[in-house]
Amino acid sequence: MGGFAGPTARAETEGHSQPLETDLAMHDRTGLENIAIAPARPEEAETILELFVDIFHNREPLTAAVGFSRRRMLDLGRSVHLGRGRPALENGLWWMARDASGGGAPAGFAVCNDLLAEIHQEIPPGTTADETERIAAFAALQQELHRPLTERFDFAPGECLHISALGVSPGYQGRGLATRLLAAAVERARDLGFRYATAECTSPASRRCHEKCGFASMHRVWPCEFNFQCKRPFADIKDDCNLMFRELP
Ligand SMILES: CC(C)(COP(=O)(O)OP(=O)(O)OC[C@H]1O[C@@H](n2cnc3c(N)ncnc32)[C@H](O)[C@@H]1OP(=O)(O)O)[C@@H](O)C(=O)NCCC(=O)NCCS
Repeated sequence: MGGFAGPTARAETEGHSQPLETDLAMHDRTGLENIAIAPARPEEAETILELFVDIFHNREPLTAAVGFSRRRMLDLGRSVHLGRGRPALENGLWWMARDASGGGAPAGFAVCNDLLAEIHQEIPPGTTADETERIAAFAALQQELHRPLTERFDFAPGECLHISALGVSPGYQGRGLATRLLAAAVERARDLGFRYATAECTSPASRRCHEKCGFASMHRVWPCEFNFQCKRPFADIKDDCNLMFRELP
């Protein structure tokens, strides 16, 4: 692992990253006046995990390729996001959007964690051999995507925020809601002393949200070409996967 690169290490600027303030101002046009965005309370964790499954199952490309049942995804979500994510949840790094005009129905979420806590996850009990192999393929792809980060940085706890999952229900998409959830979580992380933030984006829409919040692509991998144990487990994914990164000055 490379030495800590410090504040001079910058992400390669690619695409059309813009200052956060400008982009958020642009998004005031979107009619989100009935949507309340707030840090999730710990007792809302289960609602967020259910929303995560609703939004990601069969939709988010990598999740769809891994192909778990909804029930298994919920188990994994509890283990991966809540297992070591409880301090992040309690510190206001999980955000939720609710629709006041829809009786407070959940509309979107951002789940964030300390990157160091995230990369040491345990596989939940009861995982089958086949599931373990699919999780291993997913983890290997993530490791390849993270390679420039691990080579250039040696993060201390509380230094790099990981955007673990960002989702907006289909009926609310395209109105700037994900961008607002992400911006809120990043601001909170900055207040807590985080100096960097990173995410993996598997779709153009997700990448654009991150660009609007000041992230730039640091590395890119094509899952369809990714080889794992002489197989191509993500052969059907057409989009590239981008490692997004930004400093939190
Ligand atoms: C990705 C996701 C969170 C975006 O939520 P959202 O609330 O619609 O996002 P926003 O409205 O804040 O911004 C979306 C941006 O992407 C753009 N966009 C949407 N589809 C796009 C596409 N196919 N190509 C390029 N840009 C696209 C929108 O135009 C918008 O940018 P703009 O404001 O510059 O016009 C939502 O689509 C989602 O939940 N998808 C399923 C789960 C998922 O993939 N999560 C991300 C995992 S990496």
